[in-house]
Amino acid sequence: MSRYSAITGWGMCVPEKVLTNADFERMVETSDEWITSRTGIKERHIAGPGETASTLAIAAARQALERAGIEGKDLGLIIVATVCADYPFPSTANLVQHALGAQCGAFDMQAACSGFLYAASTAHQFIANGSVKHALVIGVEVLSRVMDYTDRATCVLFGDGAGAVVLSASEEPGGLLGFTIGSDGARPELLWIPVGGSAEPITHEALEQRRQYVQMQGSDVFKFATRIMGPAMEEALARAGMTAAEMDLFIPHQANLRIIEAASKRLGVPPEKVFVNIEKYGNTSAAAIPIALCEAVEQGRVFPGAHLGMVAFGAGLTWAAAVVKWTAPVGPRATEREEAPVTRAEPAGVGS
Ligand code: ACO
Repeated sequence: MSRYSAITGWGMCVPEKVLTNADFERMVETSDEWITSRTGIKERHIAGPGETASTLAIAAARQALERAGIEGKDLGLIIVATVCADYPFPSTANLVQHALGAQCGAFDMQAACSGFLYAASTAHQFIANGSVKHALVIGVEVLSRVMDYTDRATCVLFGDGAGAVVLSASEEPGGLLGFTIGSDGARPELLWIPVGGSAEPITHEALEQRRQYVQMQGSDVFKFATRIMGPAMEEALARAGMTAAEMDLFIPHQANLRIIEAASKRLGVPPEKVFVNIEKYGNTSAAAIPIALCEAVEQGRVFPGAHLGMVAFGAGLTWAAAVVKWTAPVGPRATEREEAPVTRAEPAGVGS
């Protein structure tokens, strides 16, 4: 029997350390004016020593489990979307599974910034066909570890963080109503890390050339993003039997404010229905949409019955979109009031 998969839990975690545009003015030839006007980014969170994909993922996951009112042992599946796994192998999902005391299958999924929606739509299949009751889906990145902090064209754009949701089987119509995923691998070099895989193992020469870091042809990626986001969202909406006008909140991937504005315009979504938090986090890749979702709930912009549209694009090139009908109550978590407020350490440089 086909079942609905509802979001019943959600959580996020970002490192304490923040790098502002002013910090980047001291590191590379750039300016707050350039970064703000070209991207919308003001600051981003950067992992400190000891913070890894798994530590951020586990923290976000614990919040999501608590919100869902379940424990790790209740999970039937864990998928972690990331391009910044703790290790080439084993998967980060294995580490998360152990830490949460889960006894289920766990695997990483790699679709860059589209990864969270790829993972959510995969988890949905396990729920819809009746094989899993609760699935944990996490998007997490520690992109600061693969950034070239001498390359102003990339290093100002990205940040670290994790977002997680619990998808639970439900008989009530709602949850993930429609989705689409896409891939065009014709030009992997548009956005990639060229060295460190089986095509080009790490050598001293490669390290000297800084080829172990993210490389991007920004304007080509920009054009791709503005072309694909509208149609991808429309396809997911059509599969849900909806139009863009019926979305209560549009939560696009947070890569560049100008890309978000172009996609919103193309879809005819007014600014008050578009969720934007890129100014605080930069592009956190697979973590961007679940982090945005958490903040949207926290800000009271998500309510039972709301239809949410989410769309992402990323390295690959990949794209994905999903429509979710929200069904969960949105009150605070049990321990939320006791939690300490987020404190911010003085930025003291990059990464660890
Ligand atoms: N500060 C100052 N100048 C800069 C900076 C910087 N940080 N970065 C680039 N420039 C310069 C360039 O060198 C160039 O100078 P030139 O004209 O003398 O050669 C000039 O600014 C213009 O560069 P463009 O690349 O044309 O600038 P553009 O307006 O396209 O903005 C940007 C660049 C922000 C990177 C944009 O292309 C973009 O956002 N692209 C999409 C990137 C993206 O979203 N990637 C993530 C995909 S998701 C994933 O999977 C991770």
